[in-house]
Amino acid sequence: MTRTFHNLLVTGGAGFIGANFIRWLFEQPDFHGRIINFDKLTYAGNPLSLLDIAETAGPRYVFVKGDICDSAAVNQVLEAHQVDAILHFAAESHVDRSIARPDDFIRTNIVGTYTLLQAAQKHRPHLRHFHHISTDEVFGSLGPSGFFTEETPYAPNSPYSASKASSDHLVRAYHETYGLPTTLSNCSNNYGPYQFPEKLIPLMILNALEGKPLPVYGSGLNIRDWLYVTDHCSAIWRIVQEGGVGATYNIGGENELTNLAVVEKICALLDAKAPPLPSGKPRSSLITHVQDRPGHDQRYAIDCSRIQRELGWRPAQTWETGFEATVEWYLTHLEWADSVRSGDYQQWVAEHYA
Ligand code: NAD
Ligand code: DAU
Repeated sequence: MTRTFHNLLVTGGAGFIGANFIRWLFEQPDFHGRIINFDKLTYAGNPLSLLDIAETAGPRYVFVKGDICDSAAVNQVLEAHQVDAILHFAAESHVDRSIARPDDFIRTNIVGTYTLLQAAQKHRPHLRHFHHISTDEVFGSLGPSGFFTEETPYAPNSPYSASKASSDHLVRAYHETYGLPTTLSNCSNNYGPYQFPEKLIPLMILNALEGKPLPVYGSGLNIRDWLYVTDHCSAIWRIVQEGGVGATYNIGGENELTNLAVVEKICALLDAKAPPLPSGKPRSSLITHVQDRPGHDQRYAIDCSRIQRELGWRPAQTWETGFEATVEWYLTHLEWADSVRSGDYQQWVAEHYA
């Protein structure tokens, strides 16, 4: 049976995956509902990513600036917009930042998720569903073989992944203890448009374009499984509509690559598509091995057979098509990258969302 919702609360909708999700969902012919995007607009939240949606979707799109740790604000938005489903994307998401300064990760990812769960529970039965977006990093690190399944024990290694693991456990507990209708997904590394340029792929694209060093941590032989962001969006929506209540699903691209292979591919694509470097050298000459990330997980790999088998989900993009599209998107949206990296952007946010 397919669940239908009218008023979706999307937390963190101004971030990378949230913004792509909102854009993607408004393109789906079977979606006729309204989206309330509740976002604190941290450094990672970019209303610029949804500027056209804010103009074209009319009353079907509402932006509310707010903090998921603020119980009064969360309850107010659920009440005011008669929210019937919460899709919880908001988080502090960057592992390196969590190593340098874990405070915000504990607050937003754990206390924020708890605050949302409490509010969701309070607004039942009108509120009928809570979907929690999580990460494969909760499972820890793999050796050369094997895959994370939904039964893999949790073993988070960074403050980021520990905070996400904690939030997953809270979601599970609210389902088991209070019967809150939840679903949960653990996804591998996403890439695509509108990703903040601190993450590997956009950072390397922009640095390689500008002829700057490409900082590869350690040997560069760590492995990640890459999924094009709209394929993550379609998986989330499939789970929200049809996933088993209380169930968790792994989502992955079945695209395992070393970091070095990713960076070399970016260099090759840019050598083909962008003007040559002033030195005339290939962009791979910019690769610089730097000190490794502390506690750097060696390998992530996802067994996503449950969502494939039970919900019929398949990714639409291959690594080759998704990657080329991503490089082209950054090449044609340099003003977006400049804005999110500059003080102008912060000023723009202050003026528009005071
Ligand atoms: P992001 O950092 O790009 O965006 C996070 C968004 O949350 C921003 O818009 C930010 O302003 C907002 N936010 C932060 N703190 C908030 C708070 N206290 N209240 C309200 N809003 C707040 O993150 P992303 O990469 O889009 O990730 C989205 C979700 O997906 C996260 O939960 C992350 O753990 C998960 N995830 C990400 C990936 C990935 O590869 N990026 C993979 C798997 C799962
Ligand atoms: O696996 C899902 C996770 O993927 C999400 O939960 C996180 O929110 C998301 O940030 C991402 O985490 P990673 O740590 O894997 O992503 P990041 O882009 O930071 O790094 C990818 C790999 O590249 C990792 O092995 C570290 C390496 N790296 C990263 C940066 C930023 C480098 O070698 N150099 C860099 O400059």
